[in-house]
Amino acid sequence: MSACELGKAQGMPTVPLSNGFSIPVLGLGTSHDGGYSHDAVVYALQKCGIRHIDTAKRYSCESLLQKAIKESGIKREDLWLTTKLWHTDYGYEKTKQAYLESCKRLGIEYLGLCRSIGVSNFLIDHLEQLKEDCRVTPHVNQVEYHPFQRPQELVDYCRSRNIVFEGYCPLAKGEALNHSNIVQLAKKYGRTPAQICIRWSIQNGIVTIPKSTKPERIWENCQVFDFSLVEDDVAILNGMHDGRHISWDPTPIV
Ligand SMILES: NC(=O)c1ccc[n+]([C@@H]2O[C@H](COP(=O)([O-])OP(=O)(O)OC[C@H]3O[C@@H](n4cnc5c(N)ncnc54)[C@H](OP(=O)(O)O)[C@@H]3O)[C@@H](O)[C@H]2O)c1
Repeated sequence: MSACELGKAQGMPTVPLSNGFSIPVLGLGTSHDGGYSHDAVVYALQKCGIRHIDTAKRYSCESLLQKAIKESGIKREDLWLTTKLWHTDYGYEKTKQAYLESCKRLGIEYLGLCRSIGVSNFLIDHLEQLKEDCRVTPHVNQVEYHPFQRPQELVDYCRSRNIVFEGYCPLAKGEALNHSNIVQLAKKYGRTPAQICIRWSIQNGIVTIPKSTKPERIWENCQVFDFSLVEDDVAILNGMHDGRHISWDPTPIV
């Protein structure tokens, strides 16, 4: 899917989900690692057109996000918010309870449970297991995705089941930004290495959620819709996959 084939909403291209909703192809990550910046989130919402924020109970910033979203003045219905439960919340009743607690911390009335259901770090085996136990096919699978980690078999599997593939750590936590291929492509296109990585994810049809606590970097990371990588350059980046995980490897989870 090319970026120009994606629908547009509030100026940010979106990707359709199997349930009829659409997720902005570019979101803002948040995290407990590397801090959280209230000003950066407000700036992203007010000045950069960000309408998709990724968080998790584990990041301990849901209640901080509530403040930033309020201050931004952006309405709940114009925002795509993802949060994630922790594995200690598994189970029907515990999940419902944890979901309500997340809503409370975020100061919102609805989230994924009612609208779109996602999983994270699910490999093909995990998704196959899930098929046996659940009636609903997840709408999204959020998995590590950057030039060193491009799990194409999983991407293809997700596509075959209409599960949108969302890639986290698109900059490999910054590790990809000094790689000579990426530095050279940045020079060639007159862009930054981060923009090359983000654009590559999007051109590969991957929803992507780079994190930054710095307003100027968030602005930079959003300027990826006015250029495109030619096929040969996408192939160079595709060829960089070496299987390394910058976050963690979910393979041993059964
Ligand atoms: N589901 C999961 O298991 C899981 C796991 C990991 C992450 N995630 C999600 O994915 C999001 C992104 O992942 P991530 O933060 O680990 O990795 P990332 O987005 O690949 O990289 C973030 C790092 O790159 C730096 N950075 C951002 N933009 C930059 C730019 N334009 N130039 C130079 N450096 C830049 C950031 O520093 P500054 O903040 O100082 O700018 C930060 O150190 C997270 O926030 C989280 O929402 C999910």
